[in-house]
Amino acid sequence: MPAWEERHKAASGEAILSATGVKRIFGKGNAAVTALADIHLAIPAGTMVALKGRSGSGKTTLLNILSALDEPTEGKVIFRGREITKLSVAERNALRRREIGLVFQSFGLVPLMSAYENVEFGLRIAGRMGKDNRQIAEWALERVGMRGRMNHRPTELSGGEQQRVAIARAIVHEPELLIADEPTAELDSRMGLQVMRVFRDLVQSGTTVVLTTHDPGIMELVDHVIALEDGQIASYTTNEAPLA
Ligand SMILES: Nc1ncnc2c1ncn2[C@@H]1O[C@H](COP(=O)(O)OP(=O)(O)OP(=O)(O)O)[C@@H](O)[C@H]1O
Ligand SMILES: [Mg+2]
Repeated sequence: MPAWEERHKAASGEAILSATGVKRIFGKGNAAVTALADIHLAIPAGTMVALKGRSGSGKTTLLNILSALDEPTEGKVIFRGREITKLSVAERNALRRREIGLVFQSFGLVPLMSAYENVEFGLRIAGRMGKDNRQIAEWALERVGMRGRMNHRPTELSGGEQQRVAIARAIVHEPELLIADEPTAELDSRMGLQVMRVFRDLVQSGTTVVLTTHDPGIMELVDHVIALEDGQIASYTTNEAPLA
């Protein structure tokens, strides 16, 4: 049995997310690019997993498929027991908005909105219109240590603070899965560490975090590291005692 299959089996009892035989080809004919060749993985619930690999190795392509933003050419992805690769575009959008949180390298906050308004907006996108939205948004900002600055606009905040607001927006609807594409790439190491501490707190309270990174320091802070090479998994390592 190949090593990935053993891992897959070992983890699948508690896997929140798994991919089987995932392939992604962009374009057709001579111009076709195989971004992902044959990906098998299982993400254990309540852990933090980093995808690493050279530029062009397929990290973003894989994250986009795991978060139902994109569909594989072949293969399937199962999230919380449900095959998401079988869903319609509308169903995938709804699933992503309600059950997954997304964080981007460049934060993606709305510049004219305050930190609070950005987070509250995230709640509305998830379909929550309740009277207690204010309280919920403030609580999410509290969790990332940004409640005290919530009336500031993104331009009035440091990069690390903006990313923490973006995380608050991504977790305000309490998703079980948080997916982050190079969330610390635009931050200096101190701010990157603050963001990683927020992720660690979220994992401690049961959230699963999957992120990509080029930073070897970040790889020591996660539970599992999956290395991609040319669209394939080259290695899967576990940190028994990740630095907190
Ligand atoms: N929409 C697209 N159309 C054609 N090719 C694409 C598309 N998106 C990605 N690719 C190709 O797929 C491969 C994997 O790209 P991907 O963006 O997943 O890499 P990455 O590991 O995230 O790189 P980086 O570290 O630079 O972000 C690359 O060869 C890329 O050029
Ligand atoms: Mg990328």
